[in-house]
Amino acid sequence: MSLQLDFGSENTAPVHPAFVEALTEANVGFATNFEAEEWTAGAIRRLREFFEHDRLEAFTVTTGTAANAIALGAMVPPYGTILCHWDAHIETDECGAPEMFSFGARQVPLAGEHGRLSPDALAKHLSHARIGVVHSLQPAALSLTNLTEAGTAYTPDQIAALTAIARRYALGVHLDGARFANAAASVAATPAELSWKAGVDVLTLGTTKSGSFGVETIVSFNDRYNVGLAYLRKRSGHFSPKTRFLGAQLQAYMDDDRWLKNARHANAMALRLSRGLTALAGVTLVHPVEGNEVFVQMPDAMVERLVQRDCKFQRDWRPEPRHHRFVCSWATTEAQVAELIAVAQAASVSA
Ligand SMILES: Cc1ncc(COP(=O)(O)O)c(C=O)c1O
Repeated sequence: MSLQLDFGSENTAPVHPAFVEALTEANVGFATNFEAEEWTAGAIRRLREFFEHDRLEAFTVTTGTAANAIALGAMVPPYGTILCHWDAHIETDECGAPEMFSFGARQVPLAGEHGRLSPDALAKHLSHARIGVVHSLQPAALSLTNLTEAGTAYTPDQIAALTAIARRYALGVHLDGARFANAAASVAATPAELSWKAGVDVLTLGTTKSGSFGVETIVSFNDRYNVGLAYLRKRSGHFSPKTRFLGAQLQAYMDDDRWLKNARHANAMALRLSRGLTALAGVTLVHPVEGNEVFVQMPDAMVERLVQRDCKFQRDWRPEPRHHRFVCSWATTEAQVAELIAVAQAASVSA
């Protein structure tokens, strides 16, 4: 059988063995349902150490969309706006879920280079927002994403610069951390430095893309949102009854620095891939590679050759400029990266 070349998404990778082991270990005997069990309690204790924050609360769900929508739903009134980058997952890929879960709030897409929201664009929007005018929607939350959707990483200082602007207008701050581990590995910051210490109130901590079976955790550093988060998770049907399996995986994410090891590996594979591809004629990076994703423009003949070889990737990811997305995960191997580059190179030689 030929080597599988799947660079479509982290979610096409298998579950990492550490999470399978955690599920197996938790799968013994009976355990209380709905978080009244030791796995979730233990995971929350561990999260408090992980984030160096002894009052945080955490709410597990099974998809990133649910986590983002419940988080923002608890932070934003129906007459509020959610400010985000135009390319944010909540804007492009969640079918308006945060707007639905807030019972009518509106997302406002703003500009910024390489997926990072521009502080000037944010400040300008807020200074024109007609705050306190009953005829206008009221800015209520800033939502950032790290890694960004362009695969770049915000540093703690870059996040703090944006949250400082948001604070001046009393906005809550949400961070979509579907790839939080990749960002932390990229900028060598601690989980605390990249979240509450930089002004984040509520974080969506993704572990699915780090190799878990599907655990996304809403981490609240601001207790004003906790009651809303608890009720909205239940009311929206996202309070899984068998929480022990989510709690057990969340612990496995933190055990033995699994989160960081998996992220470092995925980031290293992406860097290797980007170096190999950009050495070929006609291939250019659209965004700097700062995490586990590579966004490139490449000749159509190369795209076709990869498709013929059954290589999976996100073809025509965004139209302007037209480019393609390749994602590496904990499961990507050096051999897979080398073969992808060899296939692309064969197309470039025969062109
Ligand atoms: C930036 C970002 N946020 C959130 C998600 C989570 O989405 P899902 O609802 O598919 O778990 C993803 C997954 O692709 C993502 O890339």
